[in-house]
Amino acid sequence: MQTKPIEMTLRPGLEGVPVTQSSICDIDGAKGNLSYRGYPIGDLTAQSSFLEITYLLIWGELPSPQQLRDFEGEVQMHRRMSFRVRDMMKCFPATGHPMDALQASAASLGLFYSRRAIDKPEYIYDAVVRLIAKIPTMVAAFQLIRKGQDPIQPRDDLAYSANFLYMLTEREPDPLAARILDRCLILHAEHSLNASTFSARVTASTLTDPYAVIASAVGTLAGPLHGGANEDVLAMLEEIGVPEKAGQYLDEAITNKRKIMGFGHREYRVKDPRASILQSLAEELFARFGKDEMYDVAQAVELEASKRLGAKGIYPNVDFYSGLVYRKLGIPRDLFTPVFAISRVAGWLAHWREQLGANRIFRPSQIYTGMKTRKWIPPEERNSSSVD
Ligand code: CMC
Repeated sequence: MQTKPIEMTLRPGLEGVPVTQSSICDIDGAKGNLSYRGYPIGDLTAQSSFLEITYLLIWGELPSPQQLRDFEGEVQMHRRMSFRVRDMMKCFPATGHPMDALQASAASLGLFYSRRAIDKPEYIYDAVVRLIAKIPTMVAAFQLIRKGQDPIQPRDDLAYSANFLYMLTEREPDPLAARILDRCLILHAEHSLNASTFSARVTASTLTDPYAVIASAVGTLAGPLHGGANEDVLAMLEEIGVPEKAGQYLDEAITNKRKIMGFGHREYRVKDPRASILQSLAEELFARFGKDEMYDVAQAVELEASKRLGAKGIYPNVDFYSGLVYRKLGIPRDLFTPVFAISRVAGWLAHWREQLGANRIFRPSQIYTGMKTRKWIPPEERNSSSVD
């Protein structure tokens, strides 16, 4: 068999290297357009629900009313978590990060549903339902457990996002708050081959179970260059304190080569369309429940950053305004990234299914830069020079 010569040019971060084909999500980074399965994100956020979008992303078409009712009903039935997972979570340190708790809890589902039948559509449907249903319950449960309380049971009369806020805050949420959270979940549900989705696809390509796929993606999302940036944005705004100090803060950060959190994106050269929608959701919430004092600082940072970084195509990304929305919804800061994960599970599962449909295990190559063949040295002849 003749093999094609393999190009050995190093592309750090795989920038611009296509590694798969996908029909799930399309990004036009120059124009700032984003669509899921061909539907513009603005239309979906205004008119749809998170579960409907989950269905669209995973199965490729908007569900019929009956399909949606069935899917919502199944998800509702599987929202409860085993007492074993709850008891396991009680052993987690209360000071641990909720993303670590989520990663461990998601992975533990593989122990309970270990029969792997990824070639069966029923197995895929059940796994999707279970993960979409249980991830929010796990996030809310850890929040109560770390405060020394027992998690509360999901409420069957509440829809997906309202129920999550109820399990988290122990209060039935205002309908506007629940609707805005649902719209945030739609916005965060999918974004092509970002780091966590790539992790999900790499893990999926080994044909392991979907719980391992989601657990690996959660671990990847947690980093500050990815989903974890939403926590850091609020810390940055608070450090700046007042709008007048935004310019000075940015000058110092740029001089010292520090990244401005919530800015920049590998795909976008203009403002991330999700940031614009999140900003308007924040304003909707502020009009009803009062303004977050950091909003003026955020706007000043956006203005000053556009003067300094706009020429390089660095503008607010999805993480810039999401924290202000989540804080107004009563979500604690270290749960911002877990809330992102609740939503992104939909995209990860869509990619899991797509990967299984045309699988080839991911096994890239490397350019070796280490030593060539060396002679083994007996311990007594070695120097004690330090290693990194
Ligand atoms: N602040 C200041 N300069 C920046 C920023 C920023 N936030 N982002 C990129 N740059 C500069 C960077 O210093 C570099 O400049 P130069 O060419 O002069 O050395 C240039 O832009 C290219 O940066 P890069 O880091 O090589 O770009 P990338 O495509 O590898 O990184 C990124 C993309 C999102 C990791 C990066 O923009 C970043 O670190 N942003 C801050 C963290 C953040 O907000 N992450 C959330 C990303 S969006 C949602 C998500 O993925 O969850």
